[in-house]
Amino acid sequence: MSAPKKLFVKTYGCQMNVYDSERMAEALGSEGYVATDTPDDADMILLNTCHIREKAAEKVYSELGRLKPLKSAKPDLKIGVAGCVAQAEGEEITRRQPAVDFVVGPQAYHRLPDLVAKTKTGAKPVETEFPEEDKFEHLPARPGGTLARRAPAAFLTVQEGCDKFCAFCVVPYTRGAEVSRPVEQVLNEAGNLVARGVREITLLGQNVNAYHGIGPDGEVWSLAQLIWALDKIEGLARIRFTTSHPNDMSDDLIDAHGSCAKLMPYLHLPVQSGNDRILKAMNRKHTGEAYIKLIARIRAARPDILLSGDFIVGFPGETEEEFQDTLKLVEAVGYGQGYSFKYSARPGTPAAERAEVADDVASERLYRLQALLGQQQKAAQDAMVGREVSVLFERAGRQTGQWVGKSEYLHAVHVTSDEIQPGDLRRVRITGSGTNSLAGTLM
Ligand code: 5AD
Ligand code: SF4
Repeated sequence: MSAPKKLFVKTYGCQMNVYDSERMAEALGSEGYVATDTPDDADMILLNTCHIREKAAEKVYSELGRLKPLKSAKPDLKIGVAGCVAQAEGEEITRRQPAVDFVVGPQAYHRLPDLVAKTKTGAKPVETEFPEEDKFEHLPARPGGTLARRAPAAFLTVQEGCDKFCAFCVVPYTRGAEVSRPVEQVLNEAGNLVARGVREITLLGQNVNAYHGIGPDGEVWSLAQLIWALDKIEGLARIRFTTSHPNDMSDDLIDAHGSCAKLMPYLHLPVQSGNDRILKAMNRKHTGEAYIKLIARIRAARPDILLSGDFIVGFPGETEEEFQDTLKLVEAVGYGQGYSFKYSARPGTPAAERAEVADDVASERLYRLQALLGQQQKAAQDAMVGREVSVLFERAGRQTGQWVGKSEYLHAVHVTSDEIQPGDLRRVRITGSGTNSLAGTLM
């Protein structure tokens, strides 16, 4: 048998790409590729790319430029571009960077083995169709219990694409229409992950709370129904989901936050802006007030829930007063975690046609918003000191005897103890709060 070929995958962007990279590596595993963590000795380099903001997309071309000399030194090296830049730019990529051997969109990566075969004849295949067939049905099944143990926390994509068409966002174009995986497919995959040592699963989707998969009863199931089915898997201790749209926070999902013990008290619920004119221009289809009322209902179900959000500053036409409404909304909600971005025009989206806010104005707004979110984040973290939390330990820390895990609120927690193993779920008393993590002791 020939020596295994080495595959280096570099992942950009969101958690869905992290999941896709794993699945692509598994698909290529069936073709004899094994993972390596450096591009230098790789036989294939796969960049799994992100197109959400201009900077993210540009990174891909600079990385490809850096990889070019590797290809000149090793002509057999295959370089592939996957993910959302692949979807959005297609053949433009091979035109701009001839070192690229193949391009594959996020809906077509089950065809990777075919594509790789084609490159052997010197072709440069570009596969960005949204195929009829379900890629998940065509990927090799995820290995079950007999295989290597894996890290205790895993991602599982249950829904892809988006039908919301927010005016700034490329996702409906790069990932296509909303599609949910059937319930049984999800439960089987979750069962396999748990058999391999996984104790926490984060359900992923661009619009995950709009999940509407076909259940074993032939009916359409909601995300809450799916969560309750996962709740029954013995050995699975924690369930999370991300990312959600406010308009799809259904009653049963809010209730689950109050009644499902395995569903963690953390919710990422992007609002983007606190101003109603901007929300309308963004095509968000909700007001600031509706969002604040929704948060109140979620908090009534689960008072200790930690909230996280996404915000865009400098959306076309945003005035100083309108921006201040975003600051007011942030004050009113109180976030434990916040992700804020300067608006970036994306080709093909409706907002890209509109006049932009001056860059220095947008930068200054971003600075103010990040200062406020930073304060809230620090306050939420500091408030954990003295409290008892549960921690799922994931890996060894930098210091000897130190272990790092995540609390139910997704805070990183460091504990020094010789009793801990990865995958342990332990009660921990929080004793200190640092820059980006908490310290604690086992109870
Ligand atoms: N410009 C800036 N931020 C954007 N996001 C999505 N599209 C853009 C854009 N064109 C942000 C939104 C979204 C997050 C994933 O990225 O806040 O929730
Ligand atoms: Fe993009 Fe999210 Fe809006 Fe869908 S809901 S268009 S993914 S920002």
